[in-house]
Amino acid sequence: MCEENEILINEETENMRKIGILTGGGDCPGLNAVIRGVVEKCAEAGMEVFGFHNGWRGAMLAQGHWLTLSEVEGIQTMGGTIIGSSRTNVMKDPKGPETIIEVLRALDLEGVVAIGGDDTLGVANELRKRGINVIGVPKTIDNDLSCTDYTFGFETASNIAMEAIDRLQTTAKAHSRCIVVECMGRHTGWIALQAGLAANASLVLIPEFPKTFDEIVSLVRRRYLRGDHYTIIVVAEGFELKDGEEIDVGTDAFGNKLLIQKNLAKHLSDMIEAAMRNDPLLGNDAQYFECRPVVLGHVQRGGAPCAFDRVLGTRLGIKAGELVVNGAYGNMVGMAGNQIVATDLDRAVSIRKEVDKEFYDAASLYFK
Ligand code: F6P
Repeated sequence: MCEENEILINEETENMRKIGILTGGGDCPGLNAVIRGVVEKCAEAGMEVFGFHNGWRGAMLAQGHWLTLSEVEGIQTMGGTIIGSSRTNVMKDPKGPETIIEVLRALDLEGVVAIGGDDTLGVANELRKRGINVIGVPKTIDNDLSCTDYTFGFETASNIAMEAIDRLQTTAKAHSRCIVVECMGRHTGWIALQAGLAANASLVLIPEFPKTFDEIVSLVRRRYLRGDHYTIIVVAEGFELKDGEEIDVGTDAFGNKLLIQKNLAKHLSDMIEAAMRNDPLLGNDAQYFECRPVVLGHVQRGGAPCAFDRVLGTRLGIKAGELVVNGAYGNMVGMAGNQIVATDLDRAVSIRKEVDKEFYDAASLYFK
């Protein structure tokens, strides 16, 4: 988390145009590349960039610092975010938007570049409706934002998950176990499917395509009876059994369920082990059947971004900087094919990008 700073107007640059920037929500490999792109592009046009600390919280409390070119030099190689992040929800405070307007005015900032997921960009869009200049940059390892083919961070997270599943394959085989691997993915199963398919998972469970417990255990049993005594099940944290009971967990400032508290992998793992041990078809061997849960958790978000995310973040940052310089506020930047494009923010935040049936059906060919 960034330190709190006393903010002073930069007297030397009093007559320059100025913009604020913040990173909100869960951190994501590639954030620093975006910050660098915005600062570089703005500096080229003689603009100053103020980095708010810890997302919207810094913008509410007027905490942050002026970003220099030397500070952002080479930071695309680093994970995390040099200006910190938080899940502060401006709209929860009735005076939130007004406070942001006052802070922008005090710092002589003409607007804010908000780098975030649906919550952070949702706030940006609400502020825009109240007359604040905003540019959105889509960010989430979950890859579930519309108007961009990919979000940076997703590729890095999927590779981390894939490498973990590769390793779990060998230990699962060695012990003839079923391992249930939980990936991040609050509403969608992009990481689980990408990593699971790449690492030869026996089954991938995602929120978009719920299954019954019976469908899951049937696959494990089928594998066992044909001699494959190990199974790797990859599950996205937002998955719910078609016939399961809802598990109660807490929520964050945006009302999102704290899914990690749900212990989904453990829950499924216990259920599968119990069902297999009591399966008469398995004969005497049934008593030895074992299942293990593995939660990949925040490891998926940590560390350095891969090349793709460094470059995507850089390109999005440069484009966001270009929009700022041109005063083209109210847009979100994104990737369409191999082009970096701008879309109206309102449109961008209105629909969630889910895994489509064609992709899931194709992957299902390997669920056996
Ligand atoms: O930012 C998205 C995400 O990584 C989700 O995949 C996950 O559910 C959530 O953040 C976890 O949030 P936190 O780090 O606040 O526990």
